[in-house]
Amino acid sequence: MVQHQRYNQLKNGGDEEAATLVFVWTNRGYYRRRRPKILSFLLLSLLSCGFILAPHFFSFSSALSHLSDFFGVKNDGLSGDLDVNAPLCSSISNGSVCCDRSHFRSDICFMKGDIRTHSPTSSVFLYSSKNSDDNVSSTVDGDELQHEKIKPYTRKWETSIMATIDELNLISKRRNSDVDHSCDVIHDVPAVIFSTGGYTGNVYHEFNDGIIPLYITSQQFNTEVVFVILEYHDWWVMKYADILPHLSSYPPIDFNGDNRTHCFTEAITGLRIHDELTVDPILMKNNESIVDFRNLLDRAYRPRITGLIRKAQEKTSGCALATPKRMHNQPKKPKLVILSRKGSRAITNQNILVKAAEEIGFEVHVLRPEPTTELAKIYMELNSSDAMIGVHGAAMTHFLFMRPRCSVFIQVIPLGTDWAAETYYGEPARKLGLKYIGYKISRRESSLVDEYDKDDPVLTDPSSLNQKGWEYTKKIYLERQTVKLDLTRFRKRLLRAYDYITRIHLQSQHLA
Ligand SMILES: *[C@@H]1O[C@H](CO)[C@@H](O)[C@H](O)[C@H]1NC(C)=O
Ligand SMILES: *[C@@H]1O[C@H](CO)[C@@H](O)[C@H](O)[C@H]1NC(C)=O
Ligand SMILES: *[C@@H]1O[C@H](CO)[C@@H](O)[C@H](O)[C@H]1NC(C)=O
Ligand SMILES: *[C@@H]1O[C@H](CO)[C@@H](O)[C@H](O)[C@H]1NC(C)=O
Ligand SMILES: *[C@@H]1O[C@H](CO)[C@@H](O)[C@H](O)[C@H]1NC(C)=O
Repeated sequence: MVQHQRYNQLKNGGDEEAATLVFVWTNRGYYRRRRPKILSFLLLSLLSCGFILAPHFFSFSSALSHLSDFFGVKNDGLSGDLDVNAPLCSSISNGSVCCDRSHFRSDICFMKGDIRTHSPTSSVFLYSSKNSDDNVSSTVDGDELQHEKIKPYTRKWETSIMATIDELNLISKRRNSDVDHSCDVIHDVPAVIFSTGGYTGNVYHEFNDGIIPLYITSQQFNTEVVFVILEYHDWWVMKYADILPHLSSYPPIDFNGDNRTHCFTEAITGLRIHDELTVDPILMKNNESIVDFRNLLDRAYRPRITGLIRKAQEKTSGCALATPKRMHNQPKKPKLVILSRKGSRAITNQNILVKAAEEIGFEVHVLRPEPTTELAKIYMELNSSDAMIGVHGAAMTHFLFMRPRCSVFIQVIPLGTDWAAETYYGEPARKLGLKYIGYKISRRESSLVDEYDKDDPVLTDPSSLNQKGWEYTKKIYLERQTVKLDLTRFRKRLLRAYDYITRIHLQSQHLA
């Protein structure tokens, strides 16, 4: 199956758009579609060799032999697990640990009761007040009633990166075994425990695997929640210092760097994640969408941006007369930001692109985000722009900073990156409400024409190379390719963007 091949193809994915979506539409079918679609998807899977996937969702020993059972239980058996409005573990009682391991992207465990951290043994204990003669479950190890292990990172299907993530033990124990493990810090709000390891350091992963899942998981607490972080990085806390207080009103805890026993009455370990760079309202308690997430970003960056603007004004105060005011009837030009890259996937004739865009009527800003560039500054640029152009890559994640409903995002798609470009940025950008234009370059616009024979599959059939494995995609198409835009061809997209923006502006003027 296509998606299964993709999984094999990309599962060892590396640093950037990394790996991938195993079972892309399996996930959708599983989570989002209503029952009839779930059934048709399952039927399709079962009949088209996808039945090998079925055990991931149901503990069928043999999917085929259970085909009839399966239809027999469709109205009750399945709905319990699949009804998105009542996800697994949605109601747990005091003193229990419940883990939902049904999603392919992440595991998540819930605990309620007398919860105490113990970082020297990478454990979180849940002390049960139940008497020792209680018939809870078989005793695992002495006083242990239940022992769950979890790696709280959202790329569960990528074994290579998961191997680097710290594992946490969630152990429920009888209270009478509680010696010398008294609370050093008592919290009266829940904990959300997650890792900032893995691919953290790449902006796409920071938002996709971290910040957005954190929003999804913690939004219900309305900032009354403490973040407990595994593989804690000071730089991460600093980089997201504007956003974090809008998710949690309390300072985050460095799980490994803080030996104190933190006590909670509720804890969630692991994060929920919906899809690439998005929030699915159907799966949220209060229907929040990616637009609500973006509104949170806007609130988060406002104080800093107000400060930056004031500073800039102070610098130029007293010089006001030097620059004549724009004439009243002279319309403001639409602003276009080019997210520029050096090296691989750079646009080698960027200066000509800039000229062409200016001729059409754009005010062009070239931005080259570095890992150290303050996010508020990038937000300020993009929130005040009407269009953004960039070559497929992690920096495209900044489309999240553009204003929904009135902005255009043009993604330049180098050879061999169609699928990743659409999956990681194209579709999510549309979900945010941007006008998305994907520009697939022609062979002539790729630097690979200089390296390969015109009949080489690298040029004629990129998908065959992608199928050979992620290393091929990465080495050939991501790391060794630059783009020389054919401006005759590309100009059409620029014009389309310009027309779209002027039309939107006119409409909003009419309404005003
Ligand atoms: C659950 O456990 C916590 C911590 O031991 C306790 O404070 C709370 O009262 C308990 N709630 C119920 C409903 O038993
Ligand atoms: C525990 O409960 C199960 C079912 O409720 C019962 O079969 C079993 O005998 C009980 N065990 C003990 C030790 O009470
Ligand atoms: C945690 O405990 C270990 C061993 O007792 C000690 O070496 C370390 O310094 C402690 N760390 C902190 C942050 O207190
Ligand atoms: C969420 O959506 C449901 C169904 O569309 C609707 O009934 C409900 O009022 C919505 N809730 C909020 C908070 O918008
Ligand atoms: C983003 O742009 C909108 C529309 O111009 C503006 O209302 C908002 O204040 C801006 N946000 C920030 C943080 O500057």
